[in-house]
Amino acid sequence: MNLSTEYLGVVLPHPLVAGASPLSDDLDGVKRLEDAGAAAIVLRSLFEEQITREQMSEFENLERHGESFAEAASYFPTPDAFALGPFEYLNHLRRAKEAVRIPVMASLNGATPGGWIEYARLMAQAGADALELNLYRIATDPETTSAEIERQAVETVQAVKNAVTIPVAVKLSPFYTAFAHLARELDQAGADGLVLFNRFYQPDIDPEELAATRTLHLSDSSELRLRLHWMAILSGRVRASLAVTGGVHTGIDVVKATMAGAHVTQMVSALLLHGPMHLRAVLDDLAAWMQKHEWHSLAEMRGNMSLFKVPDPDAYERANYMLMLQGWRA
Ligand SMILES: Cc1cc2nc3c(=O)[nH]c(=O)nc-3n(C[C@H](O)[C@H](O)[C@H](O)COP(=O)(O)O)c2cc1C
Repeated sequence: MNLSTEYLGVVLPHPLVAGASPLSDDLDGVKRLEDAGAAAIVLRSLFEEQITREQMSEFENLERHGESFAEAASYFPTPDAFALGPFEYLNHLRRAKEAVRIPVMASLNGATPGGWIEYARLMAQAGADALELNLYRIATDPETTSAEIERQAVETVQAVKNAVTIPVAVKLSPFYTAFAHLARELDQAGADGLVLFNRFYQPDIDPEELAATRTLHLSDSSELRLRLHWMAILSGRVRASLAVTGGVHTGIDVVKATMAGAHVTQMVSALLLHGPMHLRAVLDDLAAWMQKHEWHSLAEMRGNMSLFKVPDPDAYERANYMLMLQGWRA
């Protein structure tokens, strides 16, 4: 049985990657993920704001950059809220690379081009095998158009690509007006991989305290469907490798993601819930399912549920939507 796959130009023995999370915040965690059989590891993110803050270093400097910046700065978590500061991050990356033989990817999290992108080069120098650029952004300003937001996303990717020679994967949210178009633009800007999808921060409201509450729910397999849908739409239409993140918990989830077109599947919630060794159980599950159903390699199932060959995907999507709603009888 051949489970091998190619992601960002690197051949991996199988598609199970440990996604960005606290599981790899120390060397023991990194080694545990390797022992559990992870094909590669993505470290958690270093944020644009952390780097910008470090680069400006003194608070007076922040204030000199105008009121809106000072106001934004007042929301920044204090440096001790972050598991790793910029300097520690590079150190940890260097040591993680020495500690394991599997590829280690660093993660940068920001949304607009700027001086923070310098860290892409420092991460590459520290030994990262690839970068994951997480373009997390909530577009709250009604004056800012989708075209402007997408232009900044493309420019950010171009700036990171210009800074490094290692592969760059771009982790995206699903909330863009014309996602297929943006994916193609990022592909043409040189993104080596697209990682679908970021999970968004969705605050709840505590009505008694009149306060927004931060909650981080771990995923379950139902979250996979949004990823399957978009993976199937993009598969065959972009040159970049495709990764699923969000809702991968079982071997069948990996089968579905691969059939939709994924080259790798990242896992976080499942590993936080059941421990890193769950990755090996998923791998065994995947191999057993493939054997039972007489698949010999992942390559032969990859993308065979993609919408690439559907002549009119827009009409196909509308038809399925109508049939689903009309199929319900009270
Ligand atoms: C506690 C926690 C921390 C995370 N930290 C990061 C991060 O630093 N950078 C990032 O890109 N994603 C981060 N993520 C998101 C995960 O990498 C992943 O995309 C998301 O959890 C969906 O995958 P899952 O369903 O397998 O959990 C984090 C997720 C969790 C639960």
